[in-house]
Amino acid sequence: MRYVNFSVWPLVALVGFALSVPAASTSTPYEVFEELPMAPEGWTELPSMRVNLQKSMAMRIHLAQQNVVKFEQKVMEISTPDHPSYGDHIDTKQIKSILRPSQSTLNAVLAWLEDAGLGEQAVVEHDWIKMNVTIGQAQELLQTRYSYFRNDETQKIILRTLSYSLPAEIHKHILLVQPTNMFGMRQMGSAIIKEVEDASLRQMKAFKQMAPGFNFTQCNDTIVPQCLKVLYNFQDYVAKAPYGKNKLGVNGFLEQYAQYEDLKVFLQNYTPKAIGANFSTVSVNGGLAIQNSSNLDGIAEANLDIQYTVSLSYPTQNIYYSTGGRPPYIPDLDIVTNDSEPYLDWLNWILDQPDIPQTITTSYGESEQTVPLSYRHTVCNLFAQLGARGVSVLFSSGDAGPGWSCRSNDGKNTTKFLPTFPASCPWVTSVGGTKNINPEEAVYFSSGGFSETWPVPSYQEKAISAYFENNPDSWKPWEQYFVKGGRGFPDVAAQGFNYRVILNGTVNLIGGTSASSPAFAGLVSLLNDDRIANGKPPLGFLNPWLYSDKVAETFNDITHGRSTGCNGKMWGQPIAGNPAVVLGAGWDAVPGWDPVTGLGTPNFEKMRQC
Ligand SMILES: *[C@@H]1O[C@H](CO)[C@@H](O)[C@H](O)[C@H]1NC(C)=O
Ligand SMILES: *[C@@H]1O[C@H](CO)[C@@H](O)[C@H](O)[C@H]1NC(C)=O
Ligand SMILES: *[C@@H]1O[C@H](CO)[C@@H](O)[C@H](O)[C@H]1NC(C)=O
Ligand SMILES: *[C@@H]1O[C@H](CO)[C@@H](O)[C@H](O)[C@H]1NC(C)=O
Ligand SMILES: *[C@@H]1O[C@H](CO)[C@@H](O)[C@H](O)[C@H]1NC(C)=O
Ligand SMILES: *[C@@H]1O[C@H](CO)[C@@H](O)[C@H](O)[C@H]1NC(C)=O
Ligand SMILES: *[C@@H]1O[C@H](CO)[C@@H](O)[C@H](O)[C@H]1NC(C)=O
Ligand SMILES: *[C@@H]1O[C@H](CO)[C@@H](O)[C@H](O)[C@H]1NC(C)=O
Repeated sequence: MRYVNFSVWPLVALVGFALSVPAASTSTPYEVFEELPMAPEGWTELPSMRVNLQKSMAMRIHLAQQNVVKFEQKVMEISTPDHPSYGDHIDTKQIKSILRPSQSTLNAVLAWLEDAGLGEQAVVEHDWIKMNVTIGQAQELLQTRYSYFRNDETQKIILRTLSYSLPAEIHKHILLVQPTNMFGMRQMGSAIIKEVEDASLRQMKAFKQMAPGFNFTQCNDTIVPQCLKVLYNFQDYVAKAPYGKNKLGVNGFLEQYAQYEDLKVFLQNYTPKAIGANFSTVSVNGGLAIQNSSNLDGIAEANLDIQYTVSLSYPTQNIYYSTGGRPPYIPDLDIVTNDSEPYLDWLNWILDQPDIPQTITTSYGESEQTVPLSYRHTVCNLFAQLGARGVSVLFSSGDAGPGWSCRSNDGKNTTKFLPTFPASCPWVTSVGGTKNINPEEAVYFSSGGFSETWPVPSYQEKAISAYFENNPDSWKPWEQYFVKGGRGFPDVAAQGFNYRVILNGTVNLIGGTSASSPAFAGLVSLLNDDRIANGKPPLGFLNPWLYSDKVAETFNDITHGRSTGCNGKMWGQPIAGNPAVVLGAGWDAVPGWDPVTGLGTPNFEKMRQC
């Protein structure tokens, strides 16, 4: 095996390994490590499509980490205002050193790979082992059988398995092996565009004809950047950190590309002050920056995100990360790497960068239940690592209210609400949606609820218990459908309806918490600008700060509107054969934290004083 990033490993690790390869583990019986009862909704197995066992796949194994509790406590401390180490962010080398797998973990896993004849291929990188293996080798190593699955919506075909096994004695040393059972993810914006278009055709025509100029009253019908600036009280703030010191990152996956020309038109029309502002595209894992998309769905999410982050955070430097699902430079890996599990690629890549944007927004997500538990934990832990680096990580809460199908995918079709991942990870800030002004109210699709994976984190305990105590009428009717005691989301909210976005040169209206997260991120980026300009560390992991008494009370508490869902429909369309219709299911926006709008919408000037 080869070692990468040597310096992080104590030399004894290498010596220790060379001298003490443990007894062969071939005799240990295999036991199932992780198993899905069935393919996630939207994926169909293609049993008759032959798998070529000679093809290669890029496999990675996540090793059990040491000191996880200690690490999480440290992230919490450096993110908690008033704690002596508040703002003392640490670098990736320090993080990896704290979480370093134990020598016995490394020995056990490497011995297993050696036994399987794969020792030569294995490359150790901190808590990961990476290797290229043939599908045949992978099947033997994991005592499994891969097959092809097709996504009903995109027709994309990927190679996966529903179950894999490991020798019993190394279960405790391994957190995850991929690609195996992680299927995919959805982006949030483009699904709603059609619905908004239909619902608002009349308004859309009117906006296309509208004269330039700003009239706040019209923000009740449609959002442009100035609406958000006025509504959230940052119209007068002038960014002052030197260019390049403060950065805002937008994550794009699934072959979505932000368009330079559309941004130019957008700024001319809606943010003349920022004309000439631009963003750069950074390619991760073969991600592209195609500028002539003939497919509006392929640019809608990216354009929405970048047009609002650039205009709101102006003149802050913006970076669009285009993460590809397949590295085109591995010609013989083409079939297997058509996978959409890009978080791991992106997270591992960004954590290796010396300089990371202080604020990053992502508008992707899906039901927790469609993501294997091991994958949820690994990815959430990596978001905590970003927090430790001093990055504020924002995610859309989702566009399904309490859930769309509201059916379990364990083969039983049990009726239950479906929390969104990664929005439900306690180490990200989850942003729900609102609409209208005066009053600003919860928008019906804003996802929220309670995680089935993570318990209530300490920073949220007070807010969540107040919610349950004060609003029994809101949650009692749904008690059987959610986990009381789970991490509540969203954390905060921002406008999420009828955003004006330029796509291929024309005005469109787009809604979704896809819009809310970039809007909130634009504001957070300016809070970071203010801190950096004043010689302070960036805000980093936001939640302990957001939920602290002095910050929580600055929010505009949203107390009107409610979410809806579990009605057998997705974007207004019936879900085929859905037996789980829960009449009236949804969450109310109520005083204090609630599972539709979190703490509420922000007030920049007040937050800045905290
Ligand atoms: C897998 O193969 C690709 C292409 O040859 C190479 O770039 C990559 O480094 C290999 N990965 C490992 C872990 O050896
Ligand atoms: C992989 O993706 C590319 C581009 O999206 C597509 O052309 C190709 O057919 C896909 N391969 C399979 C096996 O799905
Ligand atoms: C602003 O827009 C509202 C609603 O469209 C309209 O009634 C009002 O006259 C406008 N005000 C100005 C000054 O144009
Ligand atoms: C805002 O729009 C909503 C419906 O979209 C309407 O009911 C409400 O009266 C409007 N408010 C104002 C202040 O125009
Ligand atoms: C923005 O950057 C891109 C890529 O560097 C460039 O092609 C484009 O012309 C720039 N746009 C403006 C308005 O500067
Ligand atoms: C898009 O641009 C690429 C090169 O930038 C070109 O190869 C391709 O033909 C273009 N596609 C369309 C539809 O214009
Ligand atoms: C994009 O705009 C061009 C030129 O205005 C037009 O020819 C083309 O049909 C548009 N593409 C889409 C997908 O709307
Ligand atoms: C669950 O729902 C699916 C899709 O509607 C159906 O095919 C399946 O038979 C159902 N299973 C049970 C146990 O009801």
